[in-house]
Amino acid sequence: MQPELGIFFYFTLLIVTTQASLFNLAPRSLRTYRNLHSRDADNTVSVNVASCACGYYVPETKETFTHRITLNPSALDNSNIAASLSKQGWAISNWVQTSKPKNIKYSPSNLKYNSNAKALELIVSGGPASRSTINSAEISTTIDKILYGSFRFNVKASSVAGACSGLFYYKDDNHEIDIEILTSHIHNTTTQKDGIPKPGVQLTVQPLTENQAFKNYKVVPFDGRFDPTKGYHEYRFDWLKSGVKYIVDGNSYGTYTRFIPKTAGTVLINNWSNGDPYWSAGPPLQNSILSVRSVDIYYNTTDTTKIAAWKAACKKASYKKVCSVPRSKSG
Ligand SMILES: *[C@@H]1O[C@H](CO)[C@@H](O)[C@H](O)[C@H]1NC(C)=O
Ligand SMILES: *[C@@H]1O[C@H](CO)[C@@H](O)[C@H](O)[C@H]1NC(C)=O
Ligand SMILES: *[C@@H]1O[C@H](CO)[C@@H](O)[C@H](O)[C@H]1NC(C)=O
Repeated sequence: MQPELGIFFYFTLLIVTTQASLFNLAPRSLRTYRNLHSRDADNTVSVNVASCACGYYVPETKETFTHRITLNPSALDNSNIAASLSKQGWAISNWVQTSKPKNIKYSPSNLKYNSNAKALELIVSGGPASRSTINSAEISTTIDKILYGSFRFNVKASSVAGACSGLFYYKDDNHEIDIEILTSHIHNTTTQKDGIPKPGVQLTVQPLTENQAFKNYKVVPFDGRFDPTKGYHEYRFDWLKSGVKYIVDGNSYGTYTRFIPKTAGTVLINNWSNGDPYWSAGPPLQNSILSVRSVDIYYNTTDTTKIAAWKAACKKASYKKVCSVPRSKSG
């Protein structure tokens, strides 16, 4: 291992450290709940047409999850993004993260609904390299008790260098499942110094420590199948007890089995820069925008109130309403 690799991992760990203080996470509930009633083909219905009182069946993994969160930007109201996002189960971050060499300010005004693109934009503000704080954007699920699920983000990355766009589950630095697009390193094939990320999409199940074998970190090149800066693509991970499967546009990008979190947490989407040459690089000279077309999350939870409500609703539906989630289209 190159020593510098440790440096950039160290910085990425620092980045997320302060996020822990953001969430008041209650201890994980120890309560378990019974299995879904057995299901046959007649009882699975399309997610779009029926209420799914008994949950969501994901055919690729044969797993059923009890709850769903979506993000549908075209239902957002630009005059009150916070309220309309909140209705969909999302909160806007508003805080300054101390970081090196530059601080990151998650600013609500860096979030915009673009009605032409029908997309929610997370903006890293462009400006001079001399800035000490970089205005950035972040949203998170208001529920912080997500445990296992299938997480799909339909987004377009920016071609403006100098930002890190993150789509991830987070409990703390040792319980984290990341998809990160580094806009300085999407296709950057210029000769890089040791420790500078390789071009591609960065897929990491934390923790990463300096001396550990890197079985849970991988950079998958954008190998010509698609360009993340042109058009929308579905970035997905399925977090199961047995491992984390990464899938982009329906194509498998590998399964991780080490350090699989067993702790409930939050899902976040952010776009930031701290000028760290070993990770985000930048800051960007122009606005760097992450455009989110949709988010679709099927999940289980440790929230006992939600579980009780789910059980009651499913019982009322005579254990019949399990929706089958359409497969991801392969790209
Ligand atoms: C999610 O919850 C359902 C209902 O309790 C259960 O059948 C399923 O096994 C759970 N999935 C995981 C990955 O824990
Ligand atoms: C390529 O990577 C280098 C090293 O991080 C960086 O300085 C440069 O700005 C990147 N180029 C582009 C086009 O993003
Ligand atoms: C992240 O910021 C960069 C730089 O400002 C921007 O080009 C890009 O579109 C943003 N990404 C998202 C997902 O908003």
